[in-house]
Amino acid sequence: MTTIQPVLEIRSLTKHYGGVKALTEANFRLMPGEHVAIVGDNGAGKSTFVRLITGAEQPNSGDLLLDGSKVSFKSPLDARDQGMETVYQTLALAEDLDVPANIFLGREITRINLGPLSILNHKAMREQSTSMLSTTGVKIQDMSESLRGMSGGQRQCVAIARAAGFAKKLIILDEPTAALGVAETARVEQIITGLKERGIPLIIISHNLRQVFDLADRIYVFRQGRIICNRLTSQTNPQEIVGLITGAIDPSSLPPEMSPKLSPHTQKEAETV
Ligand SMILES: Nc1ncnc2c1ncn2[C@@H]1O[C@H](COP(=O)(O)OP(=O)(O)O)[C@@H](O)[C@H]1O
Ligand SMILES: [Mg+2]
Repeated sequence: MTTIQPVLEIRSLTKHYGGVKALTEANFRLMPGEHVAIVGDNGAGKSTFVRLITGAEQPNSGDLLLDGSKVSFKSPLDARDQGMETVYQTLALAEDLDVPANIFLGREITRINLGPLSILNHKAMREQSTSMLSTTGVKIQDMSESLRGMSGGQRQCVAIARAAGFAKKLIILDEPTAALGVAETARVEQIITGLKERGIPLIIISHNLRQVFDLADRIYVFRQGRIICNRLTSQTNPQEIVGLITGAIDPSSLPPEMSPKLSPHTQKEAETV
C-alpha cells in the first residue's frame, strides 16, 4: 500500500495566552484534494488554529508540515508565498479600489519596478483578474468600478476568486458566508464546489451544519481548545456533530473512524466494499 502524503499536517500545535489555553496539542491533516470543515462552539479555538497555521501568530509549540516538509511562517505573507491562501472573516479588501487592484493588492504586476515609483501594469492585472474570476464563475459587470457599490456576496466572491487564483496548495475560508444572504451563500458554495472539482484542498470554518454536510469530506470538531475528533461526513450526521460540539457525546464512545491517511478517493473505494 502506498502512503499518501498530507498536503498539510499539524502536530501537537499549542497556544496559551497566559492562563487561557486557546489551543492544546492539536493534530490535523488535510489530504490532497480534500475539503475539510472545522466546527466548534465560540471560544473553541478555531480562529486561533487558523491564525497559527497561517503565520498570523506564533505557536508555543508544535509542528506544521507542508507537503511533508516542516515549515514555520513568520507572517501570513510568508504562508501566501508558499501557496496557502486565506480568506479571513473580516475581508481584507479595499473599498475604494476596483476589482483588479483588489485582486493584486500587495502583489501588483509592474511594468517597471522602481519601488515606490514603480509603474503598474494595469492591462495585465485586468486580464488576469478577468480570467481568475471566470474560473470561479463570478461575473462582474464593470471591472473598473470600485468595490463600494458591490454587495457583500460580490465582495466575498472577489476575495475567494483572489484566493482561488493564487492558491497553489490550499485555501482556508473562515466563515465565508456568515454575513451573506441565501443567493449569495449559494454562489460562494458553487465556487467551493468548483475548487473541489479542480482538486484544490480547502479548510472551511462554518457554523452552518447544512453547509458543512454539503461541502466537506471530513469534519474536525474543536471543543474547549482541543481537536476532540474528526469524522468522515459520510459516516456521521448533524445530530452526532452537535453532540460532539456540546459535549453531550464522548468522542471515545464512537466507533473507530477511517484513517485520515486515506484519500477521499480511497475512502470511496473502501466504503463500497
Ligand atoms: N489574543 C488573545 N488573548 C487572550 N485570549 C485569547 C486571544 N485570542 C483568543 N483567546 C481566547 O482563546 C480561546 C479560543 O478563542 P478563538 O480561537 O477565538 O475561538 P473560536 O474561533 O473557536 O471562537 C477563547 O477563550 C478566547 O477568549
Ligand atoms: Mg473565531
